[in-house]
Amino acid sequence: MKLQAVLFDLDGVITDTAEFHYLAWKQMAEPIGIEIDHAFNERLKGISRMESLERILAHGGKEQQYTMEQKQRLAADKNKHYVSLLTQLTPEHVYPGIPELLDQLAELQIPAVLTSASKNAPQILSALRLDERFHTIVDPDGMPGKPAPDIFLKGAGAVGADPAYCIGVEDAQAGVEAIKAAGMFAVGIGEKGLLCASGADIVFESTAKLNLTALLKAAKLD
Ligand code: BG6
Ligand code: MG
Repeated sequence: MKLQAVLFDLDGVITDTAEFHYLAWKQMAEPIGIEIDHAFNERLKGISRMESLERILAHGGKEQQYTMEQKQRLAADKNKHYVSLLTQLTPEHVYPGIPELLDQLAELQIPAVLTSASKNAPQILSALRLDERFHTIVDPDGMPGKPAPDIFLKGAGAVGADPAYCIGVEDAQAGVEAIKAAGMFAVGIGEKGLLCASGADIVFESTAKLNLTALLKAAKLD
């Protein structure tokens, strides 16, 4: 069967924004007396802004101390820090192998779809000059977050693709679980042990190793 669509996560797959998320959360958390480190930040990958905030508050033992309104203010504060860091992004920050893979897909007229939990995705793609390369950017607003399959199912639906003939690419465990829950072939980018434990069908240690021929062979698609 023919490959019908490739669905891409953004942070950690197209570019490395995880460090910016980390710095922005840290800047928000310190004034309220919560310390986070890189190891803890791993647990926020693929997780929506509000859910990440809940995890940070729980980490600091402060999950009961804020009203919804105050939490929204904290999340907005974090996003302000994050958006100011994003001004540093340029096309040079696109991960290796990604432009080539998008070229190969375009040549075969296979749609590339962006399925990121980030509400900043359109701005990031535009800073990377990749906005024209995606058929659809799925809006995560109001959707159950990863590991729920919803964003991947919506992405496949947007291009009329059957999930069984789609490939999803993710760096986060929650993301790989979401791809599998959507019934797609899951490509993990990063640490093999962790991503295989979440159900990844194949793992590449870096995007530099991604290429369409390898993906098609692994997914048994044409
Ligand atoms: C995901 C990141 O892609 O987007 C998470 O891995 C982040 O770390 C989430 O929390 C939401 O991003 P944003 O830009 O909407 O705050
Ligand atoms: Mg990611």
